[in-house]
Amino acid sequence: MSTVRRIATQPIAGMKPGTSGLRKKVSEFERPHYLENFVQSVFDAVRPPEGFAGRTLVLGGDGRHGNLRAVQVVLRMAAAAGFARVLVGAGGLLSTPAASCVIRRRGAFGGLILSASHNPGGPDGDFGIKFNGANGGPAPEAVTDAIHAATLRITHYDIADAPDLALDRPGRSLLGDLLVEVIDPVADYRDLMHELFDFDALRALFAGGFRLAFDAMHAVTGPYAKAILEDELGAPAGTVRNGVPLPDFGGGHPDPNLVHAHELLATMMADDAPDLGAASDGDGDRNLIIGRGLPLSPSDSLAMLAANAHLAPAYRGGLAGVARSMPTSAAVDRVAARLGIPCFETPTGWKFFGNLLDAGRITLCGEESAGTGSDHVREKDGLWAVLLWLQVLAARRQSLREVAQAHWSTYGRNYYTRHDHEALPLDVAQALMADLAAKLPALAGQVMAGRRVVLADDFAYTDPVDGSVSRHQGLRLVFDDGARIVWRLSGTGTEGATLRAYIERLETDPAALALDPQQALADLIALADRVSGLRERTGRQKPDVVT
Ligand code: G1P
Ligand code: ZN
Repeated sequence: MSTVRRIATQPIAGMKPGTSGLRKKVSEFERPHYLENFVQSVFDAVRPPEGFAGRTLVLGGDGRHGNLRAVQVVLRMAAAAGFARVLVGAGGLLSTPAASCVIRRRGAFGGLILSASHNPGGPDGDFGIKFNGANGGPAPEAVTDAIHAATLRITHYDIADAPDLALDRPGRSLLGDLLVEVIDPVADYRDLMHELFDFDALRALFAGGFRLAFDAMHAVTGPYAKAILEDELGAPAGTVRNGVPLPDFGGGHPDPNLVHAHELLATMMADDAPDLGAASDGDGDRNLIIGRGLPLSPSDSLAMLAANAHLAPAYRGGLAGVARSMPTSAAVDRVAARLGIPCFETPTGWKFFGNLLDAGRITLCGEESAGTGSDHVREKDGLWAVLLWLQVLAARRQSLREVAQAHWSTYGRNYYTRHDHEALPLDVAQALMADLAAKLPALAGQVMAGRRVVLADDFAYTDPVDGSVSRHQGLRLVFDDGARIVWRLSGTGTEGATLRAYIERLETDPAALALDPQQALADLIALADRVSGLRERTGRQKPDVVT
């Protein structure tokens, strides 16, 4: 038996979970009672009337600094809250898609995922914690609002008095009445991938000499990628690079884009490049795909996967529908139109796909920020996207470049870029957005950069499943030729404000399908700056990150 202590505490300001849970500097999470206050608030907000008796909680994280301490704290608090069982990944690890998979397969009540995704780790980096419900997906807004409300009225938290548990290998132990089951973090996920893909075809691909470079960026996908790609599918040792999860991600920024995955990019642009390059982020939900000499935009990747998904056993019967976040390029819309299936445009953030997936209205979905996923879990899934690409390349017996070229000549190419301006003073960024929002309506109908503005608004979304409305999801200018400029403030940054400008246009001229995206979009990029006044108002001469 262990005793439960009731510790008096007070509300701590600023604990409003965003689309990806509560994400803050490590130093915040290390403040006394900080983590405990939040965990108690989650439990208070989601506790069913009959309590947690008989319920299972899934627990794990991306291995970053603070992960192990947080796992032990959550275990003691879950015991105090009356959970029957916690399934925790060995070493405290679970990638975000694997956590979603375990919640669903084991019929859990929900899970706590410890991660700040692609944000840097280590003692000076970020930490985060997110609650996912029984469908395996991020808590909807009503729940995150309830959690926030609970953080504002908290007076105490309950925690069992017990020593740290050993978590390094699978096994069972008791913490008071709580059964703590340490599970292999990879096993459930690997079984699910077996159900979705034709592993024999993938084995044959590697046996035939196909070369893949998978950069795990010293984050959580290392063990998953090694187990599946190297051990099961026979990809040669060394296919998985930076495969050991480190608390500080080796000092890197585990965000799989062309800026932070520059080593992989260099590998893929070299003369002796492998056939395919891929990377995943801190918690394993994002993916970057690079062909030999050809970086692929995530928006294009989504469209091409939608057009080819039927080549994998799981999607052989076709797709019910697809969805993309509003700032994601419209490339997938064109595929949906040709397939005759619905295409939904949602606000940024994976949680908006949840209702559509649960209702069976969509099978595949994705975001421009390197997130792609399907109805197999309720999170985006980095390694899954790589396996689906491998399946497509194996079935078509083509290189990624050949698939891309064929796609663009069929559908046209949506040139796309995102320009991020990071760590702006909050007031400057907010004033810019407010002024822009006020100015937009008057731009409708005007001709700019040779195009007529057909829509100028602040994007609002009505969920087609539950009717809920989400406003202020990004400012957009849409032109008569399909070109778009979108601006929004990031909801996941932890320093000042990050302003993102998203720019796209459709090209159908067969002679103009192989341009550099920045050049192809140069006039719209200049227009975006002119309309927003960004350079002048922020004093920034160029974006911090261009993807
Ligand atoms: C960013 C991405 C968004 C993604 C989120 C969580 O959010 O832009 O697509 O869902 O991370 O991975 P943002 O910082 O733009 O609010
Ligand atoms: Zn992530």
